[in-house]
Amino acid sequence: MVVTDGTHFSKQASQFDLHAYLAARQEKVEAALDRSLPIIYPEQIYEAMRYSLLAGGKRLRPILCLATCELAGGTIEMAMPTACALEMIHTMSLIHDDLPAMDDDDYRRGKLTNHKIFGEAVAILAGDGLLAYAFEHIAVETQAVPADRLMKVIARLGRAVGAAGLVGGQVVDLHCEGVCDVKMETLNFIHAHKTAALLEASVVSGAILAGASDTDIQKLTRYSQAIGLAFQIVDDVLDITSTQEELGKSVGKDLRAQKATYPSFWGIDESKKQAQQLVEQAKSEVSGYGDRALPLMAIADFITARTH
Ligand code: FPP
Ligand code: MG
Repeated sequence: MVVTDGTHFSKQASQFDLHAYLAARQEKVEAALDRSLPIIYPEQIYEAMRYSLLAGGKRLRPILCLATCELAGGTIEMAMPTACALEMIHTMSLIHDDLPAMDDDDYRRGKLTNHKIFGEAVAILAGDGLLAYAFEHIAVETQAVPADRLMKVIARLGRAVGAAGLVGGQVVDLHCEGVCDVKMETLNFIHAHKTAALLEASVVSGAILAGASDTDIQKLTRYSQAIGLAFQIVDDVLDITSTQEELGKSVGKDLRAQKATYPSFWGIDESKKQAQQLVEQAKSEVSGYGDRALPLMAIADFITARTH
């Protein structure tokens, strides 16, 4: 991998057009997601799966996966099935998170939630369908990647979504709701699992597909853990400072549910400062890769700058 000096890098970084980069990548990901899931019999379940999968969103996880695959010398085509699978898993986790048994939310990505349109039973099944299909999609559609790398990606992703990842984070989150003395350690556990685990899998899987070295994977893992935590801190802040129109989902929920959040420990200003420090830490992990890391650097900055 090419490593360049920091001076050259910072000059290039200021010229990198993240907006154009994200728009171009989002377009490719949207098209691939649309192709990935045609409607067949029984139509209702495919419609429910597509309703949430194609409801927009930043497509951050797929874009991170494509970016690290390219950073490590691979191509977008090699990573696209995994990129789509990451969005399928993220979407299913949100469908289930919004169910009455969990957060009971009515809006997601600016639209009525899946169960509000299709009913609870179909929403549960749409989530299950997306989860299973994500793994099938990687295994069946990935081309030009050696089988041992694919196995590693599937194993890493399985770990990220199960009880050692998203499911574990969500269960602790639900248990802590309304509990006054949640410790910072528990809050960190929740977010390392509920949010950062899938972001980490997104970053690392792209690199594995491209055959990155263990050292590179370790650096990228640290990058992803830092942006994962920063992302969650910003999410907590936006729940307080943003509007439903800006976020596309209900706001002020954390306070209403008496949830422990980073702003509840640190206040808003300190939370923003901590998020910024994590972003700087993330950027320092990948700064040695020169121009190839421009997207990852800019995405890290975008996490603290975002308003939705
Ligand atoms: C949103 O958090 C929810 C998540 C990040 C993940 C939730 C995980 C599950 C429901 C487990 C899913 C099952 C598998 C197998 C992956 P939030 O409620 O804090 O944020 P929100 O305001 O966007 O709802
Ligand atoms: Mg929720």
